[in-house]
Amino acid sequence: MKISAMATNAGVDLVRRMRRNRTTPFIRSLVRETVLRPEDLIQPLFVQAGDGAPEPIASMPGVVRHNVATLAEECRKVADLGIPAVALFPRIDATLKNPTGTHATDSANVLFAAIRAVKKAVPHLTLIVDVALDPYTDHGHDGILDGKGSIENDSTVEALCRLAVAQAEAGADIVAPSDMMDGRVKAIRAALDAAGHRGVGILAYSAKYASAFYGPFRDAVGSGKVSAPLDKRTYQMDPANVREAILEVELDEQEGADMVMVKPAGPYLDVIRAIREATNLPLAAYQVSGEYAQIHAAAKLGWLDYASTRDEALLAIKRAGADMILTYFATEVAEALR
Ligand code: PBG
Repeated sequence: MKISAMATNAGVDLVRRMRRNRTTPFIRSLVRETVLRPEDLIQPLFVQAGDGAPEPIASMPGVVRHNVATLAEECRKVADLGIPAVALFPRIDATLKNPTGTHATDSANVLFAAIRAVKKAVPHLTLIVDVALDPYTDHGHDGILDGKGSIENDSTVEALCRLAVAQAEAGADIVAPSDMMDGRVKAIRAALDAAGHRGVGILAYSAKYASAFYGPFRDAVGSGKVSAPLDKRTYQMDPANVREAILEVELDEQEGADMVMVKPAGPYLDVIRAIREATNLPLAAYQVSGEYAQIHAAAKLGWLDYASTRDEALLAIKRAGADMILTYFATEVAEALR
């Protein structure tokens, strides 16, 4: 007979009763292992040309496409809440898109005006800018198509280098290549250094999966339709793989990345954990648009409690090993944490 399971008049005879440490909110806070802070968060923001009112995105409740002026105001609010960084994404007018995405480095690209406006309004806020061609290509891919319909690696990397240098020139603090081309971190580092931007950092989207969870984002930047999802599987990673993610991180580390990223976040907690253990670089995780939309949709149906689901999803990403989390919830969570 197992002594520990033996019931007596004095109750079950147990050496360790785990519930003792869960008795009150105070003791639970003493033994809590993970705490989410505003300083852990990065707010992604969208900007478009013109001076129209901020435009809502149907599949991302509460998220808007800003004009340059409202973007700068929003950034001031974000910084005041103690959020250290924003990640900036442009939505480009369809008439300016073409197969090679040449508007990316056009000085009239609204992104550059947005970078300058944010740096002027809130100089101390860290400004992260995505490096990829998908906002600018008419087919929505992150790179340049060759004649046969596949994405050309090396000419795309050259275009990304020009874009990253132009972003640095405009005032970006960190550039974040999200394209998944091979060798782009090394090439961008060299291009930035050659242009005198040694202080501009690189946050590499190292393990970016070909995920269905990007659907609402593609609505936001107009790069794809949910009904006919873009197939990016020749450059983004297979959701089945985790060892490959570690290889990607090792390469980006050797190529000079200052920080690495896993994306999406919630469905890839094991990948976050594996990379946390494989590198000493700071690790970001991107809770993407579809993860955000899911929580909103279920809450709207009355099937989940909104705030507690949101907070648990973010806490889990941090517990898995992320040092920082890109999330569309950043501002409201920082407000709630005050
Ligand atoms: C594209 C890019 C994507 C996201 C960030 N940068 C989408 C894609 O790869 O098609 C997705 C972000 C999100 O879903 O929130 N370079």
